[in-house]
Amino acid sequence: METVKIKQKARIIEKELLAPDIYRMSFETTLCNEAVPGQFILVYPPDSSKLLGRPICITDVSEAGQSGSGCRKVKLSIVFRVSGGGTREIAACDKGDALYIEGPLGHGYPVDDDIISGRKIVLLGGGLGAPSLLFLAKKLTDKAAVILGYRDSSLNHFLADDFKALGHDTLIATDDGSEGIRGNVLEAMEKAGIQADLIYACGPMPMLSAVKKYAEGHKIPAYISLEEHMACGVGVCLGCVVKTTEKDPHSNVSNARICTEGPVFDVKDVEI
Ligand SMILES: Cc1cc2nc3c(=O)[nH]c(=O)nc-3n(C[C@H](O)[C@H](O)[C@H](O)COP(=O)(O)OP(=O)(O)OC[C@H]3O[C@@H](n4cnc5c(N)ncnc54)[C@H](O)[C@@H]3O)c2cc1C
Ligand code: FES
Repeated sequence: METVKIKQKARIIEKELLAPDIYRMSFETTLCNEAVPGQFILVYPPDSSKLLGRPICITDVSEAGQSGSGCRKVKLSIVFRVSGGGTREIAACDKGDALYIEGPLGHGYPVDDDIISGRKIVLLGGGLGAPSLLFLAKKLTDKAAVILGYRDSSLNHFLADDFKALGHDTLIATDDGSEGIRGNVLEAMEKAGIQADLIYACGPMPMLSAVKKYAEGHKIPAYISLEEHMACGVGVCLGCVVKTTEKDPHSNVSNARICTEGPVFDVKDVEI
């Protein structure tokens, strides 16, 4: 299914500092009312000299009434870290300001019954991987195990309370052991004796490579969201390709575009 490209100016209705340099921002919009977990939006910094939108995962979508034209309005939330000029400009905007956003883009986490039914589901979020999994956690009706990895306690285990409030068993792991279980999310899963039958993961590439190795070693399905660098965000520039295990029958190359075929992939389908 091709993603329809839609860009709109959206008003910021909430902004919250969750941890140093990490913000939750919510927009009121008629875009994304059909968004699914794992999809992302492009957020355009207000300085028009920065032409490219910054890809940010959709963390939540909830009803916000009807627009004047009868379209369903939603409150669309994102969580992002200030990592460079674009995200700094976005973070400098306040409630009441409006920014161009575009989306929903990409393909989300597969959650069909034949994939999830009867399985022990584990969500693994490393750092800024947690925001993409929160929307997924909201849609899961069965209790999942959630393990969130942080560098250290200074990140205030951001979003962990949101996962807990949804009723999921939520564990915290830190690299330095300053909070929760010491180690990465996979080490924490093993230390806590959690046996996964199905993994959904988002986080830095070394973590996702380890998840692929673990899932293939244990012969369990796993889906990962890749957050590599992007430019156009809509499949045109080929600036975001990942190597795939199979050749694409149309292009005859072993590549997929993260922005269009992803960002979520079955671990079996990508070489990372
Ligand atoms: C599909 C997708 C979803 C994403 N979701 C989120 C999210 O939910 N929350 C969030 O905080 N970030 C997310 N990112 C990363 C975010 O897009 C980048 O941090 C942002 O574009 C950086 O823009 P900038 O102008 O602030 O920084 P730039 O000046 O462009 O870069 C500043 C620094 O950030 C690094 N950087 C740039 N892009 C990325 C990237 N894609 N991944 C890792 N490092 C990067 C650069 O190498 C550089 O070191 C996502 C990326 C993708 C592709
Ligand atoms: S970012 Fe341009 S093709 Fe993916």
